[in-house]
Order: sequence, then C-alpha cells, then structure tokens
Amino acid sequence: MTDAIHPLRIGLIGTGRISDVYLENCAAFSGLDIVVCGSLNPDESRAKADRYGVPRVASPQAIIDDPDVDAILNLTIPAAHASVSIAALEAEKHVYSEKPFVTDLDEGRNILALARQQGRLVGNAPDTFFGGRWQTVRKLIDQNAIGAPTGVAAFVPTHGVERHHPNPDFYYAKGGGPLLDLGPYYLAAMVFCLGPVARVAGMSRRTFSERMIENGPRNGEMMPVEVDTHCVSLLEFESGVVGQMLVSFDVWESETPRLEIYGTDGTICIPDPDPGDGANVFQGDVWVRTRTTSRWTMRPRPDAPAEWDVANNTHGLNFDARGIGLAELAKAVAEAREPRASGALGLHLCEVMQGMLDSPVSGRFIDIESRCERPAPLRESTETGLHVNLSALP
Ligand SMILES: NC(=O)c1ccc[n+]([C@@H]2O[C@H](COP(=O)([O-])OP(=O)(O)OC[C@H]3O[C@@H](n4cnc5c(N)ncnc54)[C@H](O)[C@@H]3O)[C@@H](O)[C@H]2O)c1
Repeated sequence: MTDAIHPLRIGLIGTGRISDVYLENCAAFSGLDIVVCGSLNPDESRAKADRYGVPRVASPQAIIDDPDVDAILNLTIPAAHASVSIAALEAEKHVYSEKPFVTDLDEGRNILALARQQGRLVGNAPDTFFGGRWQTVRKLIDQNAIGAPTGVAAFVPTHGVERHHPNPDFYYAKGGGPLLDLGPYYLAAMVFCLGPVARVAGMSRRTFSERMIENGPRNGEMMPVEVDTHCVSLLEFESGVVGQMLVSFDVWESETPRLEIYGTDGTICIPDPDPGDGANVFQGDVWVRTRTTSRWTMRPRPDAPAEWDVANNTHGLNFDARGIGLAELAKAVAEAREPRASGALGLHLCEVMQGMLDSPVSGRFIDIESRCERPAPLRESTETGLHVNLSALP
C-alpha cells in the first residue's frame, strides 16, 4: 500500500456508455493517466482509444496482467464488477469500479478481504458526494444549521433508461433495477451527511414484465424485466435519524424529485438531484429554511477545493465531475490511506439496497451488519476566495 504512484497508470476495462465521461474528465486530473483500455468489444474500445487519445487497446485479461498498469478502472456492467475487481486485486492492482459495487454481498466481502491481503485500495462510485452541492449540505449539518438531524426523504421518480441507453438490458436484469442503479447516488449522499444505516424495510413492485428499447440500433426490441422497478424503502440510521426513499423506473412525471434532510431547527432541501447526466447530482442549489427564517434561502455551493491539482483544465471542467473519486483514490494511494469513495462504503450501500429488496420478500425489517466510516468532507479552497462562507447562517 505504500507504493506512492503519481500519476496512477490506469487500465480501463469497459468502454461502453459511461466510459466517455471518465475518459474526458480523467484527462484533466494530473494524478491520472489512462494508458490502456479494453472490453468485450475491441472495435468499441479502439474507437474510444482513438477518440480520447488512449495509447493502447488490449483484452481485459492482458490489461489485468499488464505490469505497466497500477490500477484498474472497472466500468463493466454490474454483473461483471466483482470478477473484474477480484482479478485486478489478484494481479496486485488497485481497483475503482462503477456502482453498484457488487451484485452479491459475499463477493463484496471477498473483494475487501483480498484488498487488505494484497495491500491494495478499492474505490467505488458514486463520487457525486464530492460535488459542491453535497459538500455544502455536509457543512451545513456539521455547523448545526438545522440542529440535530432527525429525518431524510429522497424521491427519485423516473421512467427508466430504454429511451436513451442503446443496450439497456442490464438495467432490467439481476443486478439492475432502479434501486441498484439510482439508489447509490442518494444513499451515498445520505451516509456522507448522516452516517451509516442500521436497518431498512421496503415494498416494491414490477409494473411491466417486458419493456421496449426506444432508441438506437435495437429500437423496437423487447427486453424481459427480471427485477422490481418501483421501490419504496424505509431507513433507520445508526444515529437514530429515520428516512424514506422512493426510486422508480415506472413514473412518467413528478414534481417530487428532491432530497430533504430534516432537523430539530430546520430543513435542507436539495431540489432535483437528477443522476441523468450526473450534473444535477453534483451541482445545483441547496436550500435551507430554519425556525428563524420564514422562507427558503439558497446556499451557493462552495468552490473547488484547493487540494485538487488539476492540470490541463481546458474544458471548463469543474470539480463536480465523475472521475473525481478515482482521482481521490490516486491521492489515497500516494498518501497510503483509504479513499473517500471506498469499497467499504460501496459494500455498505449494497447491503442497504439488498436489505431493501429482501424486506418485501420476508415482510420484515432487515438489520444491516456492515458499517463504514462517514467519508471526510473535502477541504475548501482557501486560495480562490470563491468558496462560500457558511458561517453566516441564519
Ligand atoms: N450509462 C450510464 O449513464 C451510467 C451512469 C452511471 C453509472 N453507470 C454504470 O457504469 C457501468 C457501465 O455502464 P454502461 O452504461 O457504460 O454499460 P455499457 O453496456 O454501455 O458498457 C459496458 C462495457 O463493459 C464491457 N464488459 C461487459 N462485461 C465485461 C466483462 N465480463 N469483462 C470485460 N468487459 C466487460 C462491455 O464490453 C462494454 O464495453 C454500470 O455499472 C452502470 O451502472 C452507467
């Protein structure tokens, strides 16, 4: 764990839809260097390599075996996350994977044990809680702006992905569904703000047994639906905060997309934290209303933390960008510490979501065994002067 590698030489496995945003953003982080990419589809990987200037294309196994790769960026489909991560760790590489961390909790536990054994780090998306929006919320909570937190509510009503994703099958297969797909963004933010979850319950339904792909080359093709697509959950945090969350692929429209945190002295509202293109989850307004204010006050988000050393920032990239979790893992490698978007957090979120899915089957509350650290907030910029002075609270 002590090999301080900077920049981290990254082997990207999985060059599908989400890889574009990583390939674009990672180029702006000086701590990251994507040196090779590959997938099950060499033509797709070649096209991405050409487009983003990745020097080499190789098979997934060759990338894992490559001695000139320090870390694997695992952007495969959920069902392949665990096998790719385990192979990466066995080859003594750090690994950062997309969410959900795993589709089987035992595999997740094995990954964390293997990482400890190999002295390597495991990171996991989402990294949206690094965004200024959630850093602002965390600061408000830490500064007691709403008193002691008492409750949280998240509403995530969508109508699925088949209108914009060309190969949406995995979203409706085991390891998919709105909870495993969308839940991580909201649950990671909740754990970042409120700490780990102690028990959960849920009810869910599957509204359609098959769905039609409505874009791309497979337009009109039907897919089976193997998972519940409308999930309502209850959470109790270790701190005693209680919460509710709705995630759905079955809702055409709603005025509710928002996350709210309630406290003894006020409420924080995060309107429309839509994970669609990532932007709304990272960025946007944070509203606060306390017992002494009669209307919502918008809190601008803090600016980028000074600790982020961004080279080559010619795309107007700000710090609210997918890939920041991987960049932070590179810093964690150099500093021999756990990353903030850690595998332990990823496993905890998976256990929480699995509990929410198991609860309607058993008809019982599910106790959550795993615990994770509440990730530390990022340091605010002291150099730009653009960060928000949240000490002037109502
Ligand atoms: N598409 C999005 O908007 C989005 C957003 C956030 C997160 N994600 C997450 O990113 C991950 C990938 O999603 P996507 O939309 O890019 O999927 P995709 O189907 O477009 O691409 C998946 C890629 O993984 C490769 N792959 C699949 N199985 C593999 C295996 N066993 N070994 C090696 N490579 C394999 C495929 O060849 C392909 O290159 C998922 O976990 C998803 O939850 C996707």
